[in-house]
Amino acid sequence: MSYPEFTTDIFNYLDKQTLPDTFEAAVILGSGLGGFVDQIKNTSTIPYHDIPGMPVSSVEGHAGELIFGKLKGQNVMAFSGRFHHYEGFPFKETATPVYIANHLGAKKLIVSNAAGAINTSFSVGDLMVIESVIRSNVAISPRGNKRHRYNHHQWVPKVRKIAAELGLVTQQGTYMYVTGPNYETKAEIRSFRKMGADAVGMSTATELFEAARLDLKSSAISLITNMSTGVTGEKLDHEEVKEAADARKDDFAKLVKALIEKL
Ligand code: 6GU
Repeated sequence: MSYPEFTTDIFNYLDKQTLPDTFEAAVILGSGLGGFVDQIKNTSTIPYHDIPGMPVSSVEGHAGELIFGKLKGQNVMAFSGRFHHYEGFPFKETATPVYIANHLGAKKLIVSNAAGAINTSFSVGDLMVIESVIRSNVAISPRGNKRHRYNHHQWVPKVRKIAAELGLVTQQGTYMYVTGPNYETKAEIRSFRKMGADAVGMSTATELFEAARLDLKSSAISLITNMSTGVTGEKLDHEEVKEAADARKDDFAKLVKALIEKL
């Protein structure tokens, strides 16, 4: 398995902890979706700053913790706090949770994020199952230049079916990755819509590409926290993102729980 050099110290540290041999799933939690960890039983938590070599995020409001525990009797790990390129992390470091998940024997990866809707038929609070990804900067795969599918395609209809069984309506669409840190202009959103994007955000893409490279099956869900620039006349602010995440966090947690069990 080929991991970037900086993961050596991280793996050495984690290998010294008493952990299960495999995990049913690893979950990367997006902005405001950290409440999912309340579902996990018998947790043990490692703060990122305790792990030698681990990138440490300086963004406030991100817990920065790796949580191990049980969900319906199965071993899971959750990353509360991820690494964005706009914070100054090199692309390869933004995929750190994926390297850890794979190294520790996760069987699948569930990625979540908060995103802005480009598709005008979407509403705030919608859950969008990511079907494909557009990278505004195509150099984001930190390793190699092979062609990889970004995620496990066959899972998109399956994820939507599992959601529907819980009474949750989902959208399906293309996630536009932008480096950020600033939100898009109206003209950018208009051009992204023409390119076929349905939602836009500043995370997830590297994580999915690296998971694909490592043959770790993945599925990703966007919570639409706001409409993107120009869709409504209103200004975007971070409060809005938090409110929308708050309103849907229980449904999100329910969905992730079902995906861990049934996917
Ligand atoms: Cl509108 N844009 C970006 N880049 N990220 C977002 C967003 C918009 N809404 C939530 N996250």
